[in-house]
Amino acid sequence: MKIIAGNWKMNGSHENLNQMIKDLSSLETQNKVILCVPYTMLCTESGCIALGAQDVSQYERGAYTGEVSASMVAACGAKYTLVGHSECRAYHGDTNATVCAKAALALANGLTPIICVGETMEEKQAGKTMEIIESGVRESVPVDVKSDIIIAYEPRWAIGAGITPTDAEIAEVHTLIAKTLYSMGLGGTPILYGASVKGANALAIMSIPHVDGVLVGGASLKSDDFIPIIISVK
Ligand code: 13P
Repeated sequence: MKIIAGNWKMNGSHENLNQMIKDLSSLETQNKVILCVPYTMLCTESGCIALGAQDVSQYERGAYTGEVSASMVAACGAKYTLVGHSECRAYHGDTNATVCAKAALALANGLTPIICVGETMEEKQAGKTMEIIESGVRESVPVDVKSDIIIAYEPRWAIGAGITPTDAEIAEVHTLIAKTLYSMGLGGTPILYGASVKGANALAIMSIPHVDGVLVGGASLKSDDFIPIIISVK
């Protein structure tokens, strides 16, 4: 069983979501399908697909105009939320500490946080990938986690770029994440790979050791692109 998560970012509509739910409803798959959609679509009846948010506030409630709390997301019936996506780190200034606070509130409200980590091209070129990923995991995962979390490795330079790291590079990073989680008492936590995943590379990527699924951006928007990824692995 693999986890196939889609991240619609600021794309799609209610019509698109209802169509996707319909298209996926007859799929025969053991894989877990999660769609992280804009907040306005979170209360949709989603059948066998689990819905998730793309971010939650680091605060519980209060005077934080424009923010949406983990409890509000949970009240919609959503089960997951991304936290620390590279676009939130880049455009909203999220740090490992804020991501950790968001993940803790997600957990406290019964959501499974999908905690994203990844290096920029500058960090990769400076040979800092492993350091950034290890500190990203250690500092973004709350202490004392008692329920499920998911980690997503998203190399920031490969997102939406149509390029991916080599299989060996993905294996090296995922093995590091697995070892780091194990040392934190979180062995067995699923680790997803995200960035430029499509039907043509999904099977190869999900065959790499310690890759328990994928987090898909652009190719999760249309069933014609998303279904081949979901059914690429049994
Ligand atoms: P792409 O699949 O479009 O590269 O996006 C990846 C991503 O950011 C998923 O969260």
